[in-house]
Amino acid sequence: RIVYVNGQYLPEAEATISIFDRGFLMADGVYEVTSVLDGKLVDFAGHQVRLARSLGELDIAAPCSDGELLAIHRELVARNDLTDGMIYLQVTRGNPGDRDFAFPDPATTKPTLVLFTQSKPGMADSPASKTGIKVISIEDIRWGRRDIKTVQLLYPSMGKMMAKKAGADDAWMVEEGHVTEGTSNNAYIVKNGRIITRQLSHEILHGITRAAVLRFAAEAQMEVEERPFTIAEAMAADEAFFTSASAFVMPVVEIDGAVLGNGKPGPVARRLREIYLDESR
Ligand code: PDD
Repeated sequence: RIVYVNGQYLPEAEATISIFDRGFLMADGVYEVTSVLDGKLVDFAGHQVRLARSLGELDIAAPCSDGELLAIHRELVARNDLTDGMIYLQVTRGNPGDRDFAFPDPATTKPTLVLFTQSKPGMADSPASKTGIKVISIEDIRWGRRDIKTVQLLYPSMGKMMAKKAGADDAWMVEEGHVTEGTSNNAYIVKNGRIITRQLSHEILHGITRAAVLRFAAEAQMEVEERPFTIAEAMAADEAFFTSASAFVMPVVEIDGAVLGNGKPGPVARRLREIYLDESR
């Protein structure tokens, strides 16, 4: 694999980052994941806008211009012959040469920029998207600025492991009795044809796939209600699904052991997945 590190395209084994990089020492960095379908970037403009916002909220300088960022994405797709998969991008506050809680002077410490590709042949037809997946609920104990896409992913990682241990595929996080989001996705339920998903706030990541899917739902005259919902409501829903750049629209067929509907992906999730993939290719 050819990866990108601070201005250079290198074989992955030759790409290195300093042990003093604040991304490594303090999780002081943000990231984006953009899908590639048939060699084309999906929703790239949305990811670029969110990256700029995450960086701005943390006072990290943009590592390069928007045009350069797009060029790097395209160059990595070409150099790695990527057809279907993802591009992972991470920007950290950089390497100040020592460990200190205070932010270093931006005049002397430049942000670190890393990108790499992940090939996922046939990702648009994943077996999970046909059967649907199972989720469990766990308490949401993450920090309070989940709208900033930081690399502090330890708790979501632990949540994924709790799900696996329980024989499920993923976890939906619950705060004050209401679902915030999945470990790496936005959560939805469907009741009587109405799509319910939590409204945007500091409590959840503002999903790029979420924005696109809600736009398509409105265009298809589907009813959408943006409000928090409980796990009890989810267990009694007709169907459920989640959205993310890496899974698109993923049907959920079981929540905390309760089977939804007939235990198969529901019509709303299937239709939104189809529209999303059609529009992305
Ligand atoms: N995760 N919520 C969380 C906590 C996420 O980590 C993600 C994305 C989403 C969905 O956002 P988007 O539609 O923009 O991908 C929601 C990425 C895919 C990841 O961590 O791999």
